[in-house]
Amino acid sequence: MKFIIETYGCQMNVADSELVSSILISAGHTPVTDIDEAQAIIFNTCSVRDHAEQRVLGRIANEKHRKNTDPELKIGVIGCMAQRVGKRLMEIEPGIDFVVGVDQYQHLPSILDDSLSSEEDTLYMDPSQIYPGIMPYRQDKNCGFVTVMRGCNNFCSYCIVPYVRGRERSRPVDDIYTEVRRATEVGLRDITLLGQNVNSYQHDGYRFPDLLKKLNDIESLWRLRFVTSHPKDLSDELISAMASCTKVCEHIHLPLQAGDDQMLKKMNRSYDIDHYLGLIDKLRTAIPDIAITTDLMVGFPSETQSQFENTLRVMERIRFDYAFCFKYSEREGTVAATYKDQVPENERLRRLQTMIDLQRQITFEKFQEQIGKNVEVYVEDFSRKSQDMVSGKTRDFKIAVLSGSSDKIGGLSMAKVIDATAGTLICE
Ligand code: SAH
Ligand code: SF4
Ligand code: F3S
Repeated sequence: MKFIIETYGCQMNVADSELVSSILISAGHTPVTDIDEAQAIIFNTCSVRDHAEQRVLGRIANEKHRKNTDPELKIGVIGCMAQRVGKRLMEIEPGIDFVVGVDQYQHLPSILDDSLSSEEDTLYMDPSQIYPGIMPYRQDKNCGFVTVMRGCNNFCSYCIVPYVRGRERSRPVDDIYTEVRRATEVGLRDITLLGQNVNSYQHDGYRFPDLLKKLNDIESLWRLRFVTSHPKDLSDELISAMASCTKVCEHIHLPLQAGDDQMLKKMNRSYDIDHYLGLIDKLRTAIPDIAITTDLMVGFPSETQSQFENTLRVMERIRFDYAFCFKYSEREGTVAATYKDQVPENERLRRLQTMIDLQRQITFEKFQEQIGKNVEVYVEDFSRKSQDMVSGKTRDFKIAVLSGSSDKIGGLSMAKVIDATAGTLICE
């Protein structure tokens, strides 16, 4: 069958879609990029906020008309929402033919050829696997994701991820090493290691800093990144490994969530602001010019205006290069959903806008500070605006454009920053 996968949510889902493609291709199916050609449309879904779920349900409702002209067409749902809701999804949206949870993707070929019923309960079994021995089918030519651990044990009180992704489990070092080496050898020189809580990686006595050091020796690898780190697992050893490994990029994504100790406690984040600020100091001392990005949330139950303002003050103090700002969304089954004092929706929205405005200003200033600096750009493509310009990323994860033609693509260029917007460095 010709299939297409539409992916929502985090990088883990992007990597899982590559895994699913690989499984389906091995079974004789063919990936297509034009939805009109597809005989199977698979939605890889996210449950982290209600909005993410509603959006994908809307997309499915929009596509099911295709069955009128093509009754053989199959529509499937995989990913976190499939895990969370299970086969009830087929009742909620009758256009859906099958639903497969996050760790049962090996069954997809049998579902597509109808040898396995989509009613099987095993399709949503508790997640526990690591998909050994499958090389992902990658479409990007320059950058690749490599999953190193799956699941999460942290149970932040607002978060659905531990319920849908199961407990933490890490892949063997040798498997990761082989996958990274093979990806870099075919030209994917910028590798991002993935895990819901990537820096808690642990396998056979190997911990995350050991993994970075081992991968750093791969000659064909140019750049190594990782997401997402939890502040509680950012050890001194990890910071010094980041500083000493030449391939590890000068960037960390370190979700803060809130800048108020009481909120952090209610969120079950297991660190306080002092600890977080201490980490930022250590990072900036060990790795000068490190870019720090974060996730922030407004409107967590009982958050007062002054607690919200505490977060704004911490943002001003740390000056993140970028922040993903979210409005709290109640997730059924989580501890925070049982809290009585929910913040009204319009107030959540107002706080979100204030936060986004502040961060936009800081990001703009951070980008302006780059003017005059020399940066290394891994050129990935032509610039969207002009065929005489190419674009790529700096080591510290900023988008950069510079003049050049196709011969620059896939290589490293040294460039000087001559101007900047709040999202792009303009280089020479
Ligand atoms: N494992 C990663 C990513 C989790 S989801 C981590 O721990 O950082 C990505 C982000 O979504 C979180 O950092 C958080 O800011 C946000 N998020 C999670 N649950 C949410 C909810 N119920 N409402 C709003 N934002 C949420
Ligand atoms: Fe969710 Fe917290 Fe786990 Fe991140 S660390 S996935 S926010 S429970
Ligand atoms: Fe969403 Fe699942 Fe990732 S809930 S954020 S796709 S782990």
